[in-house]
Amino acid sequence: MSVPVIAIDGPSASGKGAVAHLVADALGFHCLESGALYRLVALAGPQDPERTAKDMDVAFRDRRIFLSGQDVTDKLRAEEVGVKASAIAQRPGLRQTLLHRQRAFRQPPGLVAEGRDMGSVVFPDAVLKVFLTAAAEVRAQRRYKQLIDKGIDANLHALSRDLEQRDARDAARKVAPLAPAPDALLLDTSEKTLDEVVGVILGWCRERELGGRRA
Ligand code: C5P
Repeated sequence: MSVPVIAIDGPSASGKGAVAHLVADALGFHCLESGALYRLVALAGPQDPERTAKDMDVAFRDRRIFLSGQDVTDKLRAEEVGVKASAIAQRPGLRQTLLHRQRAFRQPPGLVAEGRDMGSVVFPDAVLKVFLTAAAEVRAQRRYKQLIDKGIDANLHALSRDLEQRDARDAARKVAPLAPAPDALLLDTSEKTLDEVVGVILGWCRERELGGRRA
């Protein structure tokens, strides 16, 4: 039997990252934050993204991300890195190269993968596909709080504008646009706490008998 994958997709700041880690912890599964790979390419070598994607030396350990041995976790979170990542993510060659790196995360006992095209392209055979949404203002507020809490300077107005532009570009691109897979379950998180969202997803996991160690 193949290793089970839970795909969690959605627009920027819909809460995918935090939700995916908590679901993975509850199930004892691995977790892939696929946006980090696009951000790593944007940081490491945006001049030749395909080559960078193939050659870059990355490691994910204890929720920290290392590029050539250097901890770049905080650098990666900067909004301008997200904007650059979204620009290069339109390139079919880059997406193709990153496919292999993403699929390598599928290891026993299972994987929770979050991004934009986890359910539609990277893991089309995922046992559970979730598409998270949230109102644009809620997402901008969440991202603002996230950045300020991390001590990163942010401006709410500029953030809303960047998120809107990034989502419009992610949704309009030709390859793997941001869109729910036809068999994805939609979950609006605007009025839900993080724990509530995780609870709904773990309920869907139980329905599919994805018990893992701790769910
Ligand atoms: O999720 P995150 O904000 O870290 O992603 C940064 C950018 O990487 C997104 O705006 C999107 O353009 C791109 N991305 C993608 N496919 C994914 C994950 C991220 O195109 N699976």
